[in-house]
This record gives sequence, C-alpha cells and structure tokens, in this order.
Amino acid sequence: MRILHVSAECYPVAKVGGLADVVGALPKYQNGLGAKSAVIMPFYNNSFSKKHNFKSTHEGILILGNQRIPYQVLQTEQAVLEFDIYFVHIEHLLYQDYVYSSNDMDRFLAFQIAVMNWILTLDKKPDYIHCHDHHTGLIPFMAQESYNYQSLNNIPIITTIHNAQYQGWFGHENLYKIPEFNIKQVGLLDWKGIVNPLAAAIKCAWRVTTVSPSYMEELKLRANGLESLLRAESGKCVGILNGIDSKVWNPETDDYLIKNYKKSTLQAGKLGNKKWLCQQFDLDASKPLFVFIGRLVGEKGAELLPAICYEALKNRQISVLVLGSGDKTTESQLMSLIPHYKGNYNAFIGYDERLSHIMYAGADFLLMPSRVEPCGLNQMYSLRYGTVPIVRRIGGLKDTVIDIGDGGFGICHNQVSVSDVVYSIDRAVDFYNNTTAFRKNRKRIMEIDHSWNVSAQAYINLYKSIN
Ligand code: ADP
Ligand code: GLC
Repeated sequence: MRILHVSAECYPVAKVGGLADVVGALPKYQNGLGAKSAVIMPFYNNSFSKKHNFKSTHEGILILGNQRIPYQVLQTEQAVLEFDIYFVHIEHLLYQDYVYSSNDMDRFLAFQIAVMNWILTLDKKPDYIHCHDHHTGLIPFMAQESYNYQSLNNIPIITTIHNAQYQGWFGHENLYKIPEFNIKQVGLLDWKGIVNPLAAAIKCAWRVTTVSPSYMEELKLRANGLESLLRAESGKCVGILNGIDSKVWNPETDDYLIKNYKKSTLQAGKLGNKKWLCQQFDLDASKPLFVFIGRLVGEKGAELLPAICYEALKNRQISVLVLGSGDKTTESQLMSLIPHYKGNYNAFIGYDERLSHIMYAGADFLLMPSRVEPCGLNQMYSLRYGTVPIVRRIGGLKDTVIDIGDGGFGICHNQVSVSDVVYSIDRAVDFYNNTTAFRKNRKRIMEIDHSWNVSAQAYINLYKSIN
C-alpha cells in the first residue's frame, strides 16, 4: 500500500505546531505496519535545508494563472527520516525562512499544482493521497475536475482536518489560477460566496477525518461557517484520535532533557529537570510548578493566561512558567507580570523545542485552557512525562483526559474562564499535597499508551474501506 501525505509541515523539517508532529510520526508508524508511506512538503529556507544535501528528482514548469513558474522536487541525498520525504522547491515563493505568510494563496496553490504535476510523472503512483488541512485542500478538487489531472481521478484522496478555523479563503477573481476545470463545477470550490479550499476538500475528498472523535462532533455544531457542510457530508467523515511519536517523546531517551528518567526513577528524574527550570527562570522549586506551552492565540484560551496567572499567584504557593508566542498583547501582558511575581512566575516568549521538552519533564502540571482543541498533543506529551494535565473538556482533550474525580488521572473544567482554571489550580494544589496519591498518579499516567500504533492502523483500515 503506497500512501503519499501532502502537508505544509513535518517534524523535524519544519514545525509550527502539532500538524508537524503528526505528519512526522504517522508515516513512520504506517511503515511499521507494512505500508509504504511518504511525505511531500514545501522546501523552506530553514536549518533542515541548510544542514542536508539534496538532489533533484523531477523538474518542471507549472502554470499559476499567467505565470510560468519553474519548480523542482528534491530528496535528501541520504535517507534522514524513517520514511521517504520529497520537497517542492520553488525559489522565492516557497523557499523562505517561514512556513506561513500573508501570500499563502499563491504559495500553496503553486505547491499543490507542483505536487499534482509530479504525481502525473510517477511510474508507481500512490494508492492513496492523504492531504492535511486547507493548504492542500484543492488537491481533491483538482484530481476530480481539472482536465490535466483526470488520470489521477481514481486515486482515493483523504483529507484530514487538523484545524477548521483556518480555511484558506480567497476571492473568485483568483479562480483562473487553478488549473483549468469544468466551470460548471465551480460550486464545489465556493462556500458562502468565496473560494474556500477547506470546504472544497470536504466536498471532493473521498473521506474526511478530524484528529479526534469529539472534534468531529463539535464541528457539526461549530466549524467557523462549515457546520452545515460537515453535517451534510457526515457519511464520509470520521474522527481518528492523533497519537504521539513515543520514540521522540520518551523521557528515558530524550536528548533534550537535563535528566532522563523512567517510571522507576521518575521522582529524581523529574526533580532534576524541575530544578534546572527553576534555576534558569528564577522560580521556587519547592512549590508545585504549573506550565503552559503553546501558541498564544484565542483557540488556546491564551488571552486568559495573564489574568489566570495574576489571580492564581496572588495567594497560592505555586510557581508558573509560560512558553509561547503569538498575540502581541498577550505576549506583553505575560511579560509585564514578571516583576509582580518575581521568584514565582516567568515567561519565555518565543519558540524553543528543547525548552518545551524540559518543561514537559520538569513541570508538575500542564495548563490547557483551550477554547478549541481539535486534538492537542501537549496533554499526551505531558502524560508520557508524568506531568498532570489540567484541561478544558473540549475536542481531543475530552477524549484523552479523565478527571481525578471520575476515577481518572487529570484535572478537567468546563468553561473557558479565569475562575474555572483557578478552581482547577486549587484542586491541583490539593492533589499535589496528597503526596502518596500524587506520586502514584504520576506513575500511572506515564504508562498510558498514546503512541500512534492504534491510530496508524485506524487510518490504514480507513483507506482499505474505500472502494
Ligand atoms: P497546535 O498544533 O494547535 O499548536 P498541538 O497541541 O497539537 O497544538 O501541538 C503543539 C505542538 O507545538 C507541541 O509539540 C508543542 O510542544 C509545540 N509548541 C507549541 N508552542 C511552542 C513553543 N513556543 N515552543 C516550543 N514548542 C511549542
Ligand atoms: C492542530 C490542532 C491541534 C492538533 C494538531 C495536530 O494544530 O489545533 O489540536 O493536535 O493540529 O493534529
């Protein structure tokens, strides 16, 4: 079974968020199950492209409206990952030191056209094309309707929605940039008067998946305008929970950690990482350490963080460390709290992969007050590292974290509100102070298996179910 994943991100090549982690892990696990899974993504100007040597496996010229754009499909000279990976190189357009920008319509349209042109040239075509998010949302439409790609019309295409908030909208005046198609089918591209690549994918893909079962259900009620479409197409939609790459995310072998540990050495191991964090960020290691790691955006409930920290730190014996970047107001509010709570609070504004790993390891609790969370990987990483997640009951968080009050192992609340989160922090402190139960729970959560094994198989079963 040959599977081709098409994505804007893939760890460790280029990562903005969880999409990269998924596309960097799922093919590996699919290969472990006997499939031949590969990835094609844009070639960016980043540390990965600087560190490796590449060879060209295909060259061509693509037509984007009235532009003729040369492109190449590259591979690394030596195999670097546990799956084949191909890169679409388009000078100036894709080859930039960022993944996303304000010019994404042209960038990702050119990427998708290059991918389709390249597939046309392959002797061994993929048996399944697996597209991820709106950046690849026009591929199912092009395979179905663009005259150039009619020969690919029999390859089943699966679209996974990692995040339905972003849909890749653009105006009808740009339709001429899509390779020529039967104009009578233009309605497949349109949703509410605008070209909507994610909606087009939902209409044209053979199957549509979301990254957790609960998110699939939630989308039918709230999907940034796509609710009724998802309800109408529900027969081909299914939620499959993400897994984690338990080889990358393993506290016993994780090279980023200050001190590695396993279940039997958990106490000392976590403490080693916590002490390092507390030293680096001037925090009190004797208090329970709460962390937040993530994009500082509304979906993550990030704008509540300054008020949550302000309230929670007022009269509680806790330490808080925030890692993230995004909304500028939230960033500056988080920074301005530092002098108020010196010794108990700190924030690192930016993206730091290594620091994130040490935080999953060294923290006692991970905060995820998400407003929307299609799956969420952080809570699964934190479980694997023996850190108790505090989550809002939504999307994938609802599917992966059970409250201690219900015989579970985490702390859950219902609302995106400062008071709900602060109440959860109070429950967390009580739990932390019940040392025996707390330590037992840490060992318990480290054992929960969220690796990709089960879900990689679920995707393979889904492909096989398509006739
Ligand atoms: P999303 O994709 O919506 O951002 P996920 O929970 O699926 O959320 O995945 C987020 C991923 O990005 C995790 O691997 C998390 O550790 C990582 N991450 C997010 N923000 C940062 C940051 N500022 N520094 C390092 N890693 C980060
Ligand atoms: C998106 C979602 C996140 C999910 C990730 C990987 O970025 O916001 O919840 O875990 O994709 O599927």
